[in-house]
Amino acid sequence: MSHTSLPAEVILNWPAGDMHGRKVMQSQKRLGDLKGIFADETARSSAEPATVVYQVQWWQPAEPGQEGGLFWGVTTIHPGTVGGEFYMTHGHFHANRTRAEYYATAQGEGLLMLMDDSRMTWTEKMSPGSLHFIDGRHAHRVINTGKAPLIFWACWPSDAGYDYGSIAKEGFGARVFNRDGSIEIRS
Ligand code: F6R
Ligand code: ZN
Repeated sequence: MSHTSLPAEVILNWPAGDMHGRKVMQSQKRLGDLKGIFADETARSSAEPATVVYQVQWWQPAEPGQEGGLFWGVTTIHPGTVGGEFYMTHGHFHANRTRAEYYATAQGEGLLMLMDDSRMTWTEKMSPGSLHFIDGRHAHRVINTGKAPLIFWACWPSDAGYDYGSIAKEGFGARVFNRDGSIEIRS
């Protein structure tokens, strides 16, 4: 019996946070896209709108919403602040609250902010090698508190979905600022 080995569909560059493959998708979030995310909206709207805050690459080997599949992605958050508040992701709940996720840090320093339905908010430290299990009930956002890009890998179910609405409306229960070189979490 003959046997053929197929090439892998996606090749990762772990430390660089890069994925290569025909079906790999990507998106970038610029300061101009992040209206209402930072506390100081005046500072955000007067900053250069083309500045990239974070970018995501991901692979969906199943249809979104299909049960049983897994998605894989990587996010790079650049270093920087808006009105003293560190660059961060939008953050979201999963539309399906029974769907968990893993984040694993490749490079950089930051905080994973988690929030439950009652708006109780807490953080976990992210540093190279740190692995974070995100319960499906918890909203999640990542904040780059360092001076270099923060790169983390993620794996989540194909039917997790996204609920950005409640975060867009009310945010998380805390924000993270650079105060004279030290990290300040304000609730
Ligand atoms: C997927 C997931 C990540 C984020 C990415 C960008 O469930 O949590 O892939 O989507 O880190 O963050 P958001 O989507 O909050 O802008
Ligand atoms: Zn998620």
